[in-house]
Amino acid sequence: MKFAFAASSGTLKKEVVEVEFKENDLVFFTIKDGRKIMELGIGKREDITRRKLIILARKIIETAKNYRIKKIAVDFNEFLFPKLQNIDWKDLASLLVQNFVLANYEFNRYKTEPKEGWKHVEEVTIISAPDAVIKKGVQKGIFIGEEINACRELANIPGGEMTPPILAQKAKEAAKGTKVSVKILGKKEMTAMKMGAVLGVAQGSVHEPQFIILEYKGGGKDAPVVLVGKGVTFDSGGLSLKPSDSMLEMHMDMSGGAAVIHAVTLAAKLELKKNIVGLVPAVENMPSGSSYRPGDILKSLSGKTIEVLNTDAEGRVILADALTYAEKFKPRLVVDVATLTGASLIALGEHASAIMTPDQNLETLFRRLGEESGDYVWPLPLWEEYEENIKGNMGDISNIPANGNTRYGGVINGGMFLYQFAKNYPWVHIDMAPRMTPAKGDRLARGATGAPTQLLIKLLEEY
Ligand code: BES
Ligand code: ZN
Ligand code: ZN
Repeated sequence: MKFAFAASSGTLKKEVVEVEFKENDLVFFTIKDGRKIMELGIGKREDITRRKLIILARKIIETAKNYRIKKIAVDFNEFLFPKLQNIDWKDLASLLVQNFVLANYEFNRYKTEPKEGWKHVEEVTIISAPDAVIKKGVQKGIFIGEEINACRELANIPGGEMTPPILAQKAKEAAKGTKVSVKILGKKEMTAMKMGAVLGVAQGSVHEPQFIILEYKGGGKDAPVVLVGKGVTFDSGGLSLKPSDSMLEMHMDMSGGAAVIHAVTLAAKLELKKNIVGLVPAVENMPSGSSYRPGDILKSLSGKTIEVLNTDAEGRVILADALTYAEKFKPRLVVDVATLTGASLIALGEHASAIMTPDQNLETLFRRLGEESGDYVWPLPLWEEYEENIKGNMGDISNIPANGNTRYGGVINGGMFLYQFAKNYPWVHIDMAPRMTPAKGDRLARGATGAPTQLLIKLLEEY
């Protein structure tokens, strides 16, 4: 999708369809000065909040695609809705453009192009007074939108073609041409380091596990922010095999890892003056003669033993080693991002990721970053009362409750487990399973959403 600028609608070319807003719910087309106008119903102007604006930006592109319009023009002044008076122009331009780019994406890699071509919008002309601030915002929005689409592409590629070694290769490709350095630890290095948790989960797969390390140094000697992403390239459940229906989308179980990879490369492209590290333990969770078994006890990098009572609770197991590894960097903040539990969908539905942190200020910060970015999050408690649930019978920690009902508080048990490995630095856990794929009304294509990359990039900018 290309972007162009025009000072007024008078200078637009004939083939460009201008978008105008109407206070209804319909789409009409009229002709003005020999040019087509798309009248898009948006409801009442005074009802448009920041949340609704994000959806509106996507609706513009979706509608244009449905009518196979290739070139559209939007007047930025039309977006100054009464409830959005506080938003600055750069922020507005960036938010609109990134959502145009997100709405234009579809996962077409494995489809034959139809005779009439893809539906994508090719060009958006922005009508505004010539303004350097707006141009900067537009450029930023393009960077963010395209990087998130690249993240969605990684997550959407089927498990057979997105194995741990391929994911590691993709991380290198994503970092190419940026100031991000990428280091990969293979099975040999992980064995030498005693990363028994990652190695245990990976045991059943023919594909070697990979530990992906991305480093961006834009902040001199400052302590880094470390992002940790779950990189399960396919989660069959292992010997605690998932039912067929639940297994179907599990090639996207590396969505957290993909978000981390692209948040780090995006930070480099935006030339943030920060030090940032990305860690992605990448494994495939498979049943086979060599799989880790229910009852196995793994020795993690931290030295703590993990009693595996369900091989399908594998994300927390691999993240345990990654969270311990994060200590090496003496981080000022660690954030892990994982499609960790189905229970988070039961708790929150499809509109928000669950967050957990022992730090009240970080909780408040993440709530705000969620609101502003559109990657909404909602907190759950990390109270010590829950620690009982993750005490092992035979090992130090069990990956599901060893005693008591395993169906209660599944999100919290996942977060509580991770907390045991994240006590030496400020930490936030994001269980993004609810946002792995879009909710109805998101106006995003089928497949991965790219969440919570937008939140992460806002965090890296601000924190
Ligand atoms: N990857 C899944 C969680 C998941 C489910 C993500 C649905 C996205 C959509 C995770 O590894 C898992 O299987 N969790 C189990 C944990 C249980 C065994 C305690 C779950 O949620 O059922
Ligand atoms: Zn699982
Ligand atoms: Zn999983």
